[in-house]
Amino acid sequence: MDYTTLGRTGLKVSVAGLGCGGFSQLGLGTGKSEEDAIGIIRAALDLGVNLFDTAAAYGTEPVLAKALRGVPRDRVVICTKAPFGVSHPNSTPESAVASLDRSLKELGTDYIDVYQLHGVAPRAYDHALTVLAPALLREKEKGKSRHLGISETAPGDPIHEMAQRACRDGVWDVLMCAFHMMHQNAREAVFPLTRQHRVGTLMMFAVRNIFSRPERLAATMRELAADGEVPQALAESPDPLGFLVHAGGATSVIDAAYRFVRHEPGADVVLFGTGDPAHLRSNIASILKPPLPDADRARLAVLFGHLVGVGLDAPHLSHTTGRVTRG
Ligand SMILES: NC(=O)c1ccc[n+]([C@@H]2O[C@H](COP(=O)([O-])OP(=O)(O)OC[C@H]3O[C@@H](n4cnc5c(N)ncnc54)[C@H](OP(=O)(O)O)[C@@H]3O)[C@@H](O)[C@H]2O)c1
Repeated sequence: MDYTTLGRTGLKVSVAGLGCGGFSQLGLGTGKSEEDAIGIIRAALDLGVNLFDTAAAYGTEPVLAKALRGVPRDRVVICTKAPFGVSHPNSTPESAVASLDRSLKELGTDYIDVYQLHGVAPRAYDHALTVLAPALLREKEKGKSRHLGISETAPGDPIHEMAQRACRDGVWDVLMCAFHMMHQNAREAVFPLTRQHRVGTLMMFAVRNIFSRPERLAATMRELAADGEVPQALAESPDPLGFLVHAGGATSVIDAAYRFVRHEPGADVVLFGTGDPAHLRSNIASILKPPLPDADRARLAVLFGHLVGVGLDAPHLSHTTGRVTRG
């Protein structure tokens, strides 16, 4: 494993971070058992992963707690998030503190390394900064968290409006930001700010559905070509990103996707989500490989550098509970 420093937190973190949400939720979202999910976390630890990202909304805090039982607390960096409701403009600081306390209990720990507000929309940001953050900073002073962080709502904020403000405000030591081969605008919109202010970055959406489901990629290419956003040849190709896979290049589109994010200047940790042990191993191997060849990176910039908001799946609302179950 390679390790890096997570911005001004000073935390030494693995460059590959296990995401406990997304569509897999460690496999719990795709019908696997709690034992399987524990196996995924344990395998990640064995391969040197020390950063784990979960959230109240994912329902994976308890399984993370079980998997980490017996692991010295200072060997892992636990990141979790307040529920989406707390990040709403009408939420109260009391609800934020209550969520933090619940997460501490669910995670079976005395402190959270990075406590984040989850999916903060631009319209909710003032409230997050002026109402919620002061309350959470008081709890931090009591030792309940080490750092505050914030995650953007990628589908609702594809131009990173919230992130740009958050980087400048000095409160959020860590930013979770969307960046991938066909949504590259954080390069100009966000990374200069995170680097200037030494905000640590957790990268989300490296693969998501667009690169893990070929039919999704094909449909996206057809839509983009119809809008004149990408060459028609990409819509007609059975393997539109096949040019990335060659001797000396990537071994698969997913390999390319993780390597693309990993080697972007400004990207500290690449989050990856999986419930499949083989995917876990190959994803970590990809994240540890060298950058894609210059020619392939250049081609990705030319073909897709102008796209905004492609391949960012919206979270799904559970209509029975009103709770966002994925993110
Ligand atoms: N706003 C927010 O705060 C927010 C939003 C989104 C994500 N996140 C965080 O970012 C993390 C990562 O996002 P993500 O879960 O979407 O991760 P991702 O790594 O971008 O995509 C994971 C998806 O790709 C599949 N996959 C992964 N490796 C694969 C492989 N080698 N071959 C084929 N398919 C593969 C997974 O299914 P399998 O289970 O089959 O591997 C899963 O469906 C989340 O877990 C969460 O912690 C936060």
